[in-house]
Amino acid sequence: MLVLGIETSCDETAAAVVSDGKVLLSNVVASQVEFHRTFGGVVPEIASRKHLETIIPIVDEALRKADVKIEDIDLIAVTKGPGLPGSLIVGVVCAKALAFAFKKPIAGVSHIQAHIYANFLAYSDIPLPAICLVVSGGHTDLFLLYEDKNVRHLGRTRDDAAGEAFDKVAKLLSLGYPGGPIIDNLAKEGNPNFINFPRPLLPDSWDFSFSGLKTAVLRELRRLKEGEEIPVPHICASFQEAVVDTLVEKTAMASKEFKIKRVLLGGGVSANSRLREKFRSRAKEEGWEIFIPPLYLCTDNAAMIAALGYHDWQRKGEEEFDVEPSLRI
Ligand code: KG4
Ligand code: ZN
Repeated sequence: MLVLGIETSCDETAAAVVSDGKVLLSNVVASQVEFHRTFGGVVPEIASRKHLETIIPIVDEALRKADVKIEDIDLIAVTKGPGLPGSLIVGVVCAKALAFAFKKPIAGVSHIQAHIYANFLAYSDIPLPAICLVVSGGHTDLFLLYEDKNVRHLGRTRDDAAGEAFDKVAKLLSLGYPGGPIIDNLAKEGNPNFINFPRPLLPDSWDFSFSGLKTAVLRELRRLKEGEEIPVPHICASFQEAVVDTLVEKTAMASKEFKIKRVLLGGGVSANSRLREKFRSRAKEEGWEIFIPPLYLCTDNAAMIAALGYHDWQRKGEEEFDVEPSLRI
């Protein structure tokens, strides 16, 4: 089954062609980061305009690179949410127009759950159930994925998502945008134990909260004396360590509670080198089987949308899919 995936939920315009939910035939991503960088974050108005300009050429390119025609496609999968409303609408309307014009079925899928499915493209066989952690710019979510691919949502971020915290701390340190990769790099030169930032575990819930950690970084900066040099690499390393420890610990708690020794990661922050290292070493200690997507499938892409579209379609059959843009999924 050939699936065309379309993704426009935030600031990446992406299209991909995937065969049977696992073979990647093409994966085209047009990043808008250069247009948002001067503003220090994504400007929704600019994002939707850029999606409008690029979506058709990107879909064309994805089909060309996969060496298929739109007529060969069996299903169109599109991100229906969550995301920026104006951005989501561009992808959904494009998918609907293609589906109508070429008489193709269409599946609207969850962007957050799609991040988990990046793993199904990278690894040929993933047994289930699994504990899944999605860490991105907009989301920090813990799921339980059952054998039949039904999903139980355990917890979500109560305020800042992990990636958002990286981006905001980078802004506090005037490091540029997006902050995650910059902090990841600078942290390599720093001491992760330089400052003992809080690890917000919220023990009575599966939710996350990173805004206090961001405030702790701000307090640390305010403590510095006038003219004193900011120990940027140390702050980056200590902050990153606190985020990673919290994510690893919470996942370990879920693994224990549900007695599941299989962990799937996904989302832009799972590209973080320290996070990958610490999850892998914890997996060894705990005897987990761990799956982390390759870097190009961690950040936003349409291949993961096509992969989830395929699996949802297999599971739900011909049942009507809701393809209205939605802010909460
Ligand atoms: O999944 P994604 O591409 O978009 C959303 O769905 O939000 O994630 C983007 C987020 C940004 O906050 C970015 O700073 C973060 O992922 N990110 C990283 C790294 N690479 C991207 N955070 C930490 N370390 C990285 N290496
Ligand atoms: Zn994402």
